[in-house]
Amino acid sequence: MAQTTLISREQIDGRVAEMAREIEAEFAGTELIALCVLKGAMFFCADLVRNMTMDVALDFIQISSYGNQKYSSGVVTILKEPQLDMRGKSVLIVEDIIDSGLSIREVHNYIESRGAAKVKTAAFLDKPKARKVPFTPEYVGFSIDPQFVIGYGLDFAEKYRNIPEVQVLSD
Ligand code: IMP
Ligand code: MG
Repeated sequence: MAQTTLISREQIDGRVAEMAREIEAEFAGTELIALCVLKGAMFFCADLVRNMTMDVALDFIQISSYGNQKYSSGVVTILKEPQLDMRGKSVLIVEDIIDSGLSIREVHNYIESRGAAKVKTAAFLDKPKARKVPFTPEYVGFSIDPQFVIGYGLDFAEKYRNIPEVQVLSD
Protein backbone atom coordinates (compact mmCIF):
# COMPACT_ATOMS: atom_id res chain seq x y z
CA MET A 1 0.00 0.00 0.00
CA ALA A 2 1.35 3.44 -0.96
CA GLN A 3 0.39 6.58 0.95
CA THR A 4 0.88 10.05 -0.50
CA THR A 5 -0.06 13.42 1.00
CA LEU A 6 -3.15 15.03 -0.53
CA ILE A 7 -4.02 17.72 2.05
CA SER A 8 -1.43 18.97 4.53
CA ARG A 9 -1.89 19.79 8.19
CA GLU A 10 -1.49 23.52 7.40
CA GLN A 11 -4.17 23.39 4.68
CA ILE A 12 -6.53 21.57 7.06
CA ASP A 13 -6.03 24.09 9.87
CA GLY A 14 -6.59 27.07 7.57
CA ARG A 15 -9.70 25.70 5.91
CA VAL A 16 -11.34 24.43 9.12
CA ALA A 17 -10.92 27.87 10.71
CA GLU A 18 -12.52 29.47 7.63
CA MET A 19 -15.43 27.02 7.75
CA ALA A 20 -16.02 27.84 11.42
CA ARG A 21 -16.38 31.52 10.52
CA GLU A 22 -18.77 30.76 7.64
CA ILE A 23 -20.90 28.57 9.93
CA GLU A 24 -20.97 31.15 12.74
CA ALA A 25 -22.10 33.81 10.31
CA GLU A 26 -25.08 31.65 9.34
CA PHE A 27 -26.06 30.33 12.78
CA ALA A 28 -25.40 33.37 14.99
CA GLY A 29 -28.34 33.91 17.34
CA THR A 30 -29.72 30.36 16.96
CA GLU A 31 -29.50 27.39 19.31
CA LEU A 32 -26.99 25.23 17.49
CA ILE A 33 -26.18 21.56 17.93
CA ALA A 34 -23.08 20.22 16.16
CA LEU A 35 -23.83 16.57 15.47
CA CYS A 36 -20.60 14.63 14.98
CA VAL A 37 -20.96 11.52 12.83
CA LEU A 38 -18.76 8.91 14.50
CA LYS A 39 -16.15 7.80 14.09
CA GLY A 40 -14.62 9.53 11.09
CA ALA A 41 -15.65 13.11 11.87
CA MET A 42 -14.25 13.22 15.42
CA PHE A 43 -11.11 15.22 14.65
CA PHE A 44 -12.82 17.52 12.17
CA CYS A 45 -15.68 18.21 14.57
CA ALA A 46 -13.31 18.83 17.48
CA ASP A 47 -11.27 21.33 15.44
CA LEU A 48 -14.35 22.96 13.93
CA VAL A 49 -16.13 23.69 17.22
CA ARG A 50 -12.90 24.87 18.87
CA ASN A 51 -12.65 27.49 16.13
CA MET A 52 -16.14 28.76 16.96
CA THR A 53 -16.83 31.37 19.62
CA MET A 54 -20.65 31.11 19.70
CA ASP A 55 -22.43 28.69 22.04
CA VAL A 56 -22.66 25.28 20.44
CA ALA A 57 -23.94 22.04 21.93
CA LEU A 58 -22.29 18.78 20.90
CA ASP A 59 -23.97 15.50 20.15
CA PHE A 60 -22.98 12.27 18.44
CA ILE A 61 -24.52 9.76 16.09
CA GLN A 62 -22.91 6.57 14.91
CA ILE A 63 -23.98 4.75 11.81
CA SER A 64 -22.62 1.78 10.00
CA SER A 65 -22.92 0.98 6.37
CA TYR A 66 -22.29 -2.64 5.62
CA GLY A 67 -20.32 -3.83 2.66
CA ASN A 68 -16.70 -4.19 1.80
CA GLN A 69 -14.25 -1.70 3.15
CA LYS A 70 -13.72 0.69 0.26
CA TYR A 71 -17.32 1.02 -0.94
CA SER A 72 -20.49 1.66 1.00
CA SER A 73 -23.33 -0.86 0.56
CA GLY A 74 -26.03 1.74 1.00
CA VAL A 75 -27.62 -0.12 3.91
CA VAL A 76 -27.34 2.33 6.79
CA THR A 77 -27.93 1.28 10.40
CA ILE A 78 -27.95 3.65 13.38
CA LEU A 79 -25.60 2.23 16.02
CA LYS A 80 -25.76 5.16 18.43
CA GLU A 81 -28.60 7.66 18.60
CA PRO A 82 -28.15 11.35 19.48
CA GLN A 83 -29.10 12.25 23.06
CA LEU A 84 -30.21 15.90 22.82
CA ASP A 85 -33.70 17.14 22.10
CA MET A 86 -33.49 18.63 18.61
CA ARG A 87 -37.00 20.00 18.32
CA GLY A 88 -36.90 23.61 17.14
CA LYS A 89 -33.09 23.74 17.12
CA SER A 90 -30.52 24.17 14.37
CA VAL A 91 -28.51 21.03 13.73
CA LEU A 92 -25.23 21.03 11.84
CA ILE A 93 -24.38 17.49 10.78
CA VAL A 94 -20.60 17.20 10.85
CA GLU A 95 -19.45 14.43 8.52
CA ASP A 96 -15.99 13.28 7.49
CA ILE A 97 -16.58 12.60 3.80
CA ILE A 98 -19.46 12.32 1.36
CA ASP A 99 -19.00 9.70 -1.32
CA SER A 100 -22.12 8.02 -2.77
CA GLY A 101 -24.32 10.28 -0.62
CA LEU A 102 -26.26 7.33 0.80
CA SER A 103 -25.07 7.68 4.42
CA ILE A 104 -25.56 11.43 4.70
CA ARG A 105 -28.98 11.25 3.09
CA GLU A 106 -30.11 8.77 5.75
CA VAL A 107 -28.65 10.84 8.60
CA HIS A 108 -30.21 14.02 7.21
CA ASN A 109 -33.68 12.44 6.91
CA TYR A 110 -33.38 10.95 10.38
CA ILE A 111 -32.47 14.30 11.99
CA GLU A 112 -35.33 16.04 10.19
CA SER A 113 -37.66 13.37 11.57
CA ARG A 114 -36.52 14.32 15.11
CA GLY A 115 -38.01 17.78 14.60
CA ALA A 116 -34.96 19.98 14.04
CA ALA A 117 -35.96 23.42 12.70
CA LYS A 118 -32.96 23.71 10.41
CA VAL A 119 -30.59 20.95 9.28
CA LYS A 120 -27.36 21.74 7.45
CA THR A 121 -24.30 19.65 6.67
CA ALA A 122 -20.61 20.39 7.02
CA ALA A 123 -18.46 17.78 5.29
CA PHE A 124 -14.71 17.89 5.69
CA LEU A 125 -14.28 16.19 2.30
CA ASP A 126 -16.61 15.77 -0.65
CA LYS A 127 -16.31 13.50 -3.68
CA PRO A 128 -19.08 15.03 -5.84
CA LYS A 129 -18.27 12.77 -8.83
CA ALA A 130 -18.97 9.63 -6.76
CA ARG A 131 -22.63 10.36 -5.99
CA LYS A 132 -25.24 7.63 -6.40
CA VAL A 133 -27.95 9.83 -4.90
CA PRO A 134 -28.06 13.62 -5.15
CA PHE A 135 -26.86 15.45 -2.03
CA THR A 136 -25.20 18.85 -1.74
CA PRO A 137 -23.62 19.75 1.61
CA GLU A 138 -23.84 23.44 2.56
CA TYR A 139 -20.24 23.51 3.83
CA VAL A 140 -17.34 21.59 2.29
CA GLY A 141 -13.74 21.65 3.44
CA PHE A 142 -12.21 20.25 0.28
CA SER A 143 -13.71 18.75 -2.88
CA ILE A 144 -11.63 15.83 -4.12
CA ASP A 145 -11.65 13.38 -7.01
CA PRO A 146 -13.04 9.88 -6.42
CA GLN A 147 -10.10 8.17 -4.74
CA PHE A 148 -9.68 6.46 -1.40
CA VAL A 149 -8.26 8.72 1.31
CA ILE A 150 -7.18 8.16 4.90
CA GLY A 151 -6.11 10.22 7.90
CA TYR A 152 -7.61 13.05 9.98
CA GLY A 153 -10.26 10.59 11.19
CA LEU A 154 -10.72 8.64 7.96
CA ASP A 155 -9.88 4.97 8.11
CA PHE A 156 -9.28 1.93 6.02
CA ALA A 157 -10.42 -1.10 8.06
CA GLU A 158 -10.07 1.02 11.27
CA LYS A 159 -6.44 1.90 10.54
CA TYR A 160 -4.88 5.30 9.77
CA ARG A 161 -7.43 7.52 11.55
CA ASN A 162 -4.65 9.07 13.65
CA ILE A 163 -2.57 10.28 10.71
CA PRO A 164 -2.76 14.08 11.13
CA GLU A 165 -3.04 14.88 7.39
CA VAL A 166 -5.06 13.48 4.46
CA GLN A 167 -3.33 10.90 2.32
CA VAL A 168 -4.33 8.90 -0.75
CA LEU A 169 -4.20 5.16 -0.20
CA SER A 170 -3.39 3.17 -3.31
CA ASP A 171 -2.34 -0.44 -3.81
P1 IMP B 1 -21.29 7.26 1.32
O1 IMP B 1 -22.49 6.69 2.03
O2 IMP B 1 -20.93 6.42 0.10
O3 IMP B 1 -21.41 8.71 0.98
O4 IMP B 1 -20.06 7.01 2.23
C1 IMP B 1 -19.78 7.79 3.29
C2 IMP B 1 -18.93 7.06 4.30
O5 IMP B 1 -18.05 6.08 3.70
C3 IMP B 1 -18.03 8.07 4.97
O6 IMP B 1 -18.66 8.64 6.09
C4 IMP B 1 -16.82 7.25 5.30
O7 IMP B 1 -17.02 6.60 6.55
C5 IMP B 1 -16.75 6.21 4.20
N1 IMP B 1 -15.85 6.66 3.11
C6 IMP B 1 -16.20 7.08 1.87
N2 IMP B 1 -15.12 7.40 1.15
C7 IMP B 1 -14.05 7.20 1.96
C8 IMP B 1 -12.64 7.38 1.78
O8 IMP B 1 -12.11 7.79 0.74
N3 IMP B 1 -11.86 7.07 2.87
C9 IMP B 1 -12.37 6.61 4.04
N4 IMP B 1 -13.68 6.44 4.25
C10 IMP B 1 -14.53 6.72 3.22
MG1 MG C 1 -18.24 8.20 8.09
